[in-house]
Amino acid sequence: MSKATILVVDDEALIRWSLTERLKAEGYDVLEADTGRAAMEKLPEGVDLVLLDYRLPDTDGVTILRKIKEFDQDILVILLTAYASVETAVEAMKLGAYHFANKPFNLDEIAATIERALETTRLRREVRQFRTNAARPFSLQRIVGASDAITSLRHLVERVAVSPSSTVLLTGESGTGKDLVAKVIHYTSDRASRPFMNITCSALPEQLLESELFGHERGAFTDARLQKKGLLETADRGTVFLDEIGEMTPGLQAKLLRFLEEKSFKRVGGAGDITVDVRVIAATNRNLEEEVAKNRFRADLFYRLNVLPISMPPLRAHPEDIPLLVEYFIDGFNTEFRKRVLGATPAASTVLQGYGWPGNVRELRNVLERAMLLSDAERLDARDFAALAAVVTAGNDFELPAAGVDLEQLERSLLVQALRRSGGNQTRAGAMLGLNRDQIRYRIEKFGLTTSP
Ligand SMILES: Nc1ncnc2c1ncn2[C@@H]1O[C@H](COP(=O)(O)OP(=O)(O)O)[C@@H](O)[C@H]1O
Ligand SMILES: [Mg+2]
Repeated sequence: MSKATILVVDDEALIRWSLTERLKAEGYDVLEADTGRAAMEKLPEGVDLVLLDYRLPDTDGVTILRKIKEFDQDILVILLTAYASVETAVEAMKLGAYHFANKPFNLDEIAATIERALETTRLRREVRQFRTNAARPFSLQRIVGASDAITSLRHLVERVAVSPSSTVLLTGESGTGKDLVAKVIHYTSDRASRPFMNITCSALPEQLLESELFGHERGAFTDARLQKKGLLETADRGTVFLDEIGEMTPGLQAKLLRFLEEKSFKRVGGAGDITVDVRVIAATNRNLEEEVAKNRFRADLFYRLNVLPISMPPLRAHPEDIPLLVEYFIDGFNTEFRKRVLGATPAASTVLQGYGWPGNVRELRNVLERAMLLSDAERLDARDFAALAAVVTAGNDFELPAAGVDLEQLERSLLVQALRRSGGNQTRAGAMLGLNRDQIRYRIEKFGLTTSP
């Protein structure tokens, strides 16, 4: 914890001096003021606790106490006084004073009171923080990663969440966190207290999907015995997440486009327009621009959806986040499975970082889940990831083409690929080729790759 700042307010220079000296010796940052007014001017500098003399030249302690609490409820105040009446004490406590100390005071007692007061607020803040996080299960921190790719993703998500209603298009391979990001956007936005509705466009035949989205009137089709609200209505003032939007049929694409443009729609079999305020987040693992070029996806809908595009990086583009993700998932599975796995061994980390992760973070999560279920060791080891290790070391079975190879060329090419994949990190490139850093360096020089590989 950083040093706490204490403001000493007393008009008697000697008292200020003795308190200040003592508190500095305890390791606090100390500010001083000799009047109520001077005290108020110091507050913006960032004060955690105020030692406040009751008798001040320009005002009394209770007035200043009230002003301090108005300025910031969390600032602790300890009143110092020689003339405490019970009434003043009661009033001061009601106004939120932490403690009332009689003059002449004992410096040791004051120091102990301050320490206790600061510890109490620290704990209170931590619990408050913890509660807020628990109440908002999809906070920004759920997007784990320290790489540039994930850091800028988090920034983008944060900005998108505050833009109240613009449509978002999430693109990226399966398992890269599109669902996760959609939920984080919803639950960190002003819409968080309203519903988050989620539907996978490929999961239902067209007619069913339409009535799920827009609802239907009684008798709209054979099975429609009752009137039914659609997701767009249920999610009013909330968010609708349309997953696998690339699979939506042309008919529904047209209806969705109309909704996005007019914010209103008709229930199936209904005549009246229904207007709702819904943020649409669409996701796809297809390249929608290509789908548009091939006339499989409406260009106008694509542009309408693509107002705020977010492209999710595949895990192989930010392998430096693998250790952090591994720790994050181990932590989660420890709780879920009541285990106490401490982490992964260096050998296991090498295997996990050397693998290409075609299934991205989802695959990493599944692999760890399985390893955690099967292992009883303190740390997950390389043999817990034997299936991956086989892929990582598959180079042993490299098949010589009939025409033969230029070994030097091949070595150079593999080296370049490994360096590219590791983002220039020589140790990690080495791990992919079974070489140590010196051996990698030697080859970089040998092939004249010194600057940019
Ligand atoms: N950056 C990340 N940090 C933490 N968990 C992640 C991250 N990316 C993905 N996940 C997790 O991986 C799994 C798959 O992610 P998901 O959002 O379902 O991917 P997608 O929708 O792109 O297929 C989920 O359990 C998700 O919480
Ligand atoms: Mg998904």
